[in-house]
Amino acid sequence: MASVFGDNIKVSVFGQSHSDGIGAVIDGIPAGMSISLPELRSFMQRRAPGRNAYSTKRKEADEFEILSGLLPDEQDGNSLISCGAPICAVIRNTDQHSRDYDELKRVPRPGHADLTAEIKYGGFQDVRGGGHFSGRLTAPLCFAGGMAKQILAEKGIYVGAHIDRIGDISDKRYDAEGLELKELMAAQEREFPVNDEKAGEAMKALIEEARMDCDSVGGVIECAVIGLPAGLGAPMFDGVENRLAAAIFGIPAVKGLEFGEGFGAAAMRGSQHNDPYRMTGDGTIRPVTNHAGGILGGISTGMPIVMRMAIKPTASISKPQMSVDMKDKADRELIIKGRHDPCIVPRAVPVAEAVTALVIYDMLLDKEGRD
Ligand SMILES: Cc1cc2nc3c(=O)[nH]c(=O)nc-3n(C[C@H](O)[C@H](O)[C@H](O)COP(=O)(O)O)c2cc1C
Repeated sequence: MASVFGDNIKVSVFGQSHSDGIGAVIDGIPAGMSISLPELRSFMQRRAPGRNAYSTKRKEADEFEILSGLLPDEQDGNSLISCGAPICAVIRNTDQHSRDYDELKRVPRPGHADLTAEIKYGGFQDVRGGGHFSGRLTAPLCFAGGMAKQILAEKGIYVGAHIDRIGDISDKRYDAEGLELKELMAAQEREFPVNDEKAGEAMKALIEEARMDCDSVGGVIECAVIGLPAGLGAPMFDGVENRLAAAIFGIPAVKGLEFGEGFGAAAMRGSQHNDPYRMTGDGTIRPVTNHAGGILGGISTGMPIVMRMAIKPTASISKPQMSVDMKDKADRELIIKGRHDPCIVPRAVPVAEAVTALVIYDMLLDKEGRD
């Protein structure tokens, strides 16, 4: 089924960019989970549009309305508590400029899903703002994933991400072997989520340069999970990599994903890539390095899970592009109007965390059971 994922928890995302609202139904969150509302709101604000120069000018508060599944937490006035029923949240769309999209009914944007949607849905698709293909649909994902992040943190499992690269400018990478909470969380506390703020300034300048040139730029997000016990996941098609990849490719604009050394492993020798083992003082076995990114045979090793996802440059650019008029059946030049992110990467960082947290929590429930 499209737009639904998860095994133990099922997350169903609904809505279109310019429909009255968007939202999610999350079924399977066990009863008794306390969710801090201020924390959830501030997590969602990290993704919300219109807050700075490198984001779309569309202004949406991304305030959510909870229709079901969460009740007031009597111990804590700022929190809600799950009652075991499906959780449904709606986020109203308030700042739509649908006229900007009139032309796109006839002239598909190169790099976006306009043409493939036309082929699949025969003209009945909602073109406005990219419809159900829009990056806006990642707001409900952040609602669901923000809850999962909080539940995991209660269990000592933490998820974080940062901008690894914009164009050719790189941030400081996570320490895959000894990643600790402080390092994992540092970028989340910054308005521009990087580890090295100097690199962040250069990235912002590059995004601005692309914007001024009526163009866009892509990049890479590094995402990590710490505190995850060894033994989660299964071969061959139900591994940690499989389940993360299936969900992460649901984030619009993700075009690549690597775990640990990823594609870099192809240029290494076995002696360089293998993670040697050592006995620890308490009699457990621990890999010394973490080229595997915390996963072997689809099963977690107990080391940090480290992965990187490639995000393409935003398709909607205002530079003139070649396209076609589907009605006149003729070639046409397209100059896209409307408000778009000159770079998707900064706003996709919390989305990466949200989706990762949902998958990891779903996998943890394989072991713990829902009830
Ligand atoms: C947070 C976020 C914001 C996005 N904003 C835009 C945007 O402003 N303009 C655009 O063309 N695409 C944007 N996208 C990407 C498109 O939704 C995506 O490229 C399109 O649906 C086609 O899907 P694909 O790139 O995965 O093939 C955004 C994606 C995310 C995750």
